[in-house]
Order: sequence, then structure tokens, then C-alpha cells
Amino acid sequence: MLPMVDLKTQYSRIKSEIDREMQEVFDSCIFIGGPKVNAFRESLEQYLGVKHVIPCANGTDALQIAMMALGLKPGDEVIVPAFTYVATAEVIALLGLTPVMTDVDPGTMNITAAHIEAAITPRTKAIVPVHLFGQSADMAPIMALAEKHHLFVIEDNAQAIGADYNPTPAGRGVKTGTIGHFGCTSFFPSKNLGCYGDGGALMTNDDALAAKARMIANHGQSKMYYHDEIGVNSRLDAMQAVILNAKLKHLDEYNAARNRAADYYDGVFGQIPQLRIPAREPNSTHAFHQYTLQINTPDPAQTREELKAYLLEKDIPAMIYYPVPLYKQPAFAKYWKAGTLPVTEALCASVFSLPMHSEMTEEILAKITGAVQSFFERVKK
Ligand SMILES: Cc1ncc(COP(=O)(O)O)c(C=O)c1O
Repeated sequence: MLPMVDLKTQYSRIKSEIDREMQEVFDSCIFIGGPKVNAFRESLEQYLGVKHVIPCANGTDALQIAMMALGLKPGDEVIVPAFTYVATAEVIALLGLTPVMTDVDPGTMNITAAHIEAAITPRTKAIVPVHLFGQSADMAPIMALAEKHHLFVIEDNAQAIGADYNPTPAGRGVKTGTIGHFGCTSFFPSKNLGCYGDGGALMTNDDALAAKARMIANHGQSKMYYHDEIGVNSRLDAMQAVILNAKLKHLDEYNAARNRAADYYDGVFGQIPQLRIPAREPNSTHAFHQYTLQINTPDPAQTREELKAYLLEKDIPAMIYYPVPLYKQPAFAKYWKAGTLPVTEALCASVFSLPMHSEMTEEILAKITGAVQSFFERVKK
């Protein structure tokens, strides 16, 4: 079976550096915090061009810590897309805040300023745009709207690390995750920048917010054993920092490889009328965390099941990110009024994601695209 993500080959390319640095961690016996975590924090700040990176235990914690640092209180409403991974909305509910779910754009599958504007009420306090599948949400109008309504913006950058918003021919623009009041990311192993366990980080250019988030992530203490706030225990460990630091040097290469694979996929799938290729925002680069197609047939969910089974027979995996709108998940039902969001519903019934990682070869791409082509040719007959 082909893997969805090939971490083995990726590791083989950076093995000597990781193994050497890992041995240094074992020899030092400094496992939590310390020089390796600091070195990674500094490298990531430099890479992203952001003043503060606050490493933490995972991307879900990063979102939670951001909301705690912003002082959001029970009853406050936070606007999120209904088509996203559960973590985005989960922490909102966990803190007693109210997730307000909106529809998304059918092409980029992202929340837009128009969706957000329609959901704003006097209780709205924050927005969490998600840069889904590696495609940046269109942040300029979202930031303008937030400023107009005095709202906080927390970017969920778990899937888009390394993407540039508003790149110019002369420069690289600004990195996603550094535009809002906070950006949050995940270093889950399969992410574009992933460690070999759990990890995450917050990004901010605001000194006061950075200090607060750092304190909350460390039991609410600014000085050892003196606790100013209720906090959490959310730390990145030195072993994960070593892996992340080694991989960060290659992140642009990894994302370029993902883009080459996406271009190949687009070239073939753009010719198949039953498929819609992922839209790309003209004002940002795409990190292609996932390559996600939409099926355009009279019964897309049925075609998707048949296609998945057909591919499986050929040892090609496909995943459905995400099969159920957030508001239809039992855990979130109480936050939902009646009705449905048509684009989210259509996406949940029609999306499917194919293998996408930094180690895709022409041979793998030819095998996958050939199988998908032959499926649709067979259906035609
Ligand atoms: C969009 C999104 N938000 C948040 C998260 C949560 O990250 P983690 O799994 O590190 O908690 C993920 C990752 O799974 C994600 O894809």
C-alpha cells in the first residue's frame, strides 16, 4: 500500500543530523525546555519573520492557550468555519465560549470575510480562520473586518506552515500564522513541519500577548512556584525540538515538492470533467498539506465510495477530510440552530484526498493518476 505520507524516506534523508542531535539530548539529560527547544524557537521566529514563537505540546493546546491569553470569557462568541478539523471548535466549547459555525468558499474551501461578516453579533469576540489543506484564507479583508468590529483573530495555521500571504515578485510576503493576533500551529508527525510525537506552537508579534501565552502554557507562572493565572501544562520537549529544527531547514524544499506533486495532479485531474481540482488563491502560495479533490457527479458520495474501493484494490489510499460538518457532530449539536450550510454539506459529500507528501516521485504520481483516470474511463463505458 502506498502511504498517504512518507515519513520513512524523509527521515532517511536527515537521519545523520537527527541521530547525532538526539544523542546530544540523551547525553545532556535535558528533556523538557532547554537549549534545543530554545534553538528551535529562535529558528522558527527567524523563518516566519515573527517576534515571538511560544512552543507548546500540540496544536489543540496552542488554540486553547491563545483564547485564554486573549481573555475570552464564557458566553463570548467565536466564529469558525464548519468545514474544518474538530480541534478548531473543540477548544472554544471547552472554554465555555460559543462556537459560531459558518459556511466556506466552494473553491478554496476556506472561510471568507463575507461569511464572517454575516455571522457577527454583539457577542462576537474572535474569529478563527483556518488555512485549510495548506491554502491561506484571504486574510486582508478578514483583518480589516476584525479591526472594524474590534475582534481578535486567531489563525489556525496547523495545515499551512510555510505558506506566504501576498507574495510579491520581489519578496516572499508574510507567512501565514503571523498575520492575526495569534497564529497557532501543530507539529503532528504528518504535518508539513512535523515532529515524531506531538508538538505545537503559538506565534504573535505582540509582546504582552506573548508573555501571557508563555505564562499560561507553564501553569500560569511567570516565576517558578508563583502562579498569577490558572494555566495549563503544555510544553514541547527537547527530542521533538531536535527533529523540528532539522526539518525546518528543509521546509521550503518540502513545500516545493508538495507543490510539484500538486501541479502534476492538477495537470491530469483538470482534464477529468467529474473532478474539481483544488482552487488556489492568487494572493498566496499553497502549502498543499492535503491534495483534496471534489467529485462532481450526480451522486458524489456514491462515486467516492466506488473510487475509494477501486483505488484500494490497487494499493492506493484515499482519505475523506472531512466527512461530517461540525454542526452535525453530536458534540456540537447544541451550538447549532436548524438548517444546513450548503457548501459545507456539498464538500463533506464530495471531497477526497490523495497521497501528498515531500517524497512523491513521478512513478508514484503516474500510478495514482493513472488509476483515477482508468476509474472514470470505466465509469463512462
Ligand atoms: C486545522 C487543524 N487545527 C488544529 C489541529 C490540532 O493539532 P494537534 O493535533 O497538534 O492538536 C489540527 C491537526 O490535527 C488541524 O489540522
